[in-house]
Amino acid sequence: MAELTTIDFAHVADYATPTLPTWFDETVTVLDNSPETNAVDDRTATLGRVLFYDLRLSTNDRASCASCHQQRFGFTDPMRFSNGISGAATTDFHAMRLGNLRYWRPGTTFWDRRATSVEAQASHPFHSLVELGWGGAAGGFDDLIRKMDSMSYYPDLFEWAFGDPAITEPRIQQALAQFVRAMISSSSRWDDGYARVFSPSAPNRALDVDLPNFTPEENRGRHLFMTGVGQGGAGCSACHLPPTFALTADTRSNGLDAGETRLFKAPSLRSVGLTGPYMHDGRFATLAEVVDFYDHGIQDGPALDDRLRQGSGPQRLKLSVEDRAALVAFLMTLNDTALTTDSRFSDPFRRQVPPAPAPPP
Ligand code: HEC
Ligand code: HEC
Repeated sequence: MAELTTIDFAHVADYATPTLPTWFDETVTVLDNSPETNAVDDRTATLGRVLFYDLRLSTNDRASCASCHQQRFGFTDPMRFSNGISGAATTDFHAMRLGNLRYWRPGTTFWDRRATSVEAQASHPFHSLVELGWGGAAGGFDDLIRKMDSMSYYPDLFEWAFGDPAITEPRIQQALAQFVRAMISSSSRWDDGYARVFSPSAPNRALDVDLPNFTPEENRGRHLFMTGVGQGGAGCSACHLPPTFALTADTRSNGLDAGETRLFKAPSLRSVGLTGPYMHDGRFATLAEVVDFYDHGIQDGPALDDRLRQGSGPQRLKLSVEDRAALVAFLMTLNDTALTTDSRFSDPFRRQVPPAPAPPP
């Protein structure tokens, strides 16, 4: 493995005991969706890192998880819909950022919450004909495991992580889920400022206090985000919960489409400013469009969340141009370049030559 990757297997990186800031206290850890049977372990998470970046886990050696979940963009893809094994086919939804997925207590994944856990999710990209390609005639998980069994390093790596060399679907799920859960985002400019005002006993945990490292515009946006609509704010934090900025579990629809009956989730808003587009179908190219939507674009429907209603219809915030710009400026302060440059989550392969564009089918 030493020739293949930059990982030092004798001194493995720390994934299991992250240093969390004081505001990631029990109010946050109670939201942790790690099952007792799959607590993060350094070796297993390291295996997860290898799996996440290995192009050879696709049918044609052209795609890995990281093709669509790119670290420098907060583990998402600037493309509206992503290519996997083929340059011609794309995903049906926009790729999701992965930071702080751990703090979404239901643990369900995908925009429509259809995978029951982070573990269950990890199988889907392999089965997808667009993503890693093992569905249909490609043989499914059995053929993937046959391929891994025949590769020089996987039996050894599984033995190193699990104590015996058996490569199984549950083990692949465990390792990938651990790696993804270890992606904790807690060092944005907002955190730098919050560190200087936070007190667990302050009213509203000091979320409403001006931050000393922010411009007046960023503080205005922060105030709008953190304050309820009835109190002169925009009410965002009622669903996008600080300090993780992951969604609250009981969130219903945010009213993108009239008559909506489905419930979507959102990934944590941390690093949301690193790249668009936004929402499950990537319909908004910029954060300014997102804020305009919350200001005056929300559509009514059976699933619309009460927090976005005003009287008998959807809310109309009627924010000034300056206030809308301030909200965008605040969202940009959630960018976390510590996570997007953390070597524990980077591509470990030495050889990775960027894959050539796939030929048309
Ligand atoms: C071809 C692009 C592509 C590849 C390859 C890919 N993903 Fe994704 N990923 C997506 C898209 C698109 C979504 C949203 C899909 C949906 O909601 O139906 C997503 C969603 C997710 C989610 C859900 C996040 C949440 O907050 O609910 C996780 C976790 C995830 N992917 C991890 C992985 C892992 C692990 C791999 C590799 C085994 C992988 N992805 C491979 C595009 C990709
Ligand atoms: C009722 C809960 C709720 C409230 C209040 C709310 N949102 Fe959302 N937000 C959601 C949901 C649900 C989604 C995902 C919708 C989808 O893609 O179908 C979302 C998506 C987003 C996204 C896109 C995330 C991504 O990764 O594409 C941004 C940005 C966002 N919201 C910002 C805000 C801002 C700013 C406010 C305040 C003006 C706000 N939200 C208020 C529930 C809410």
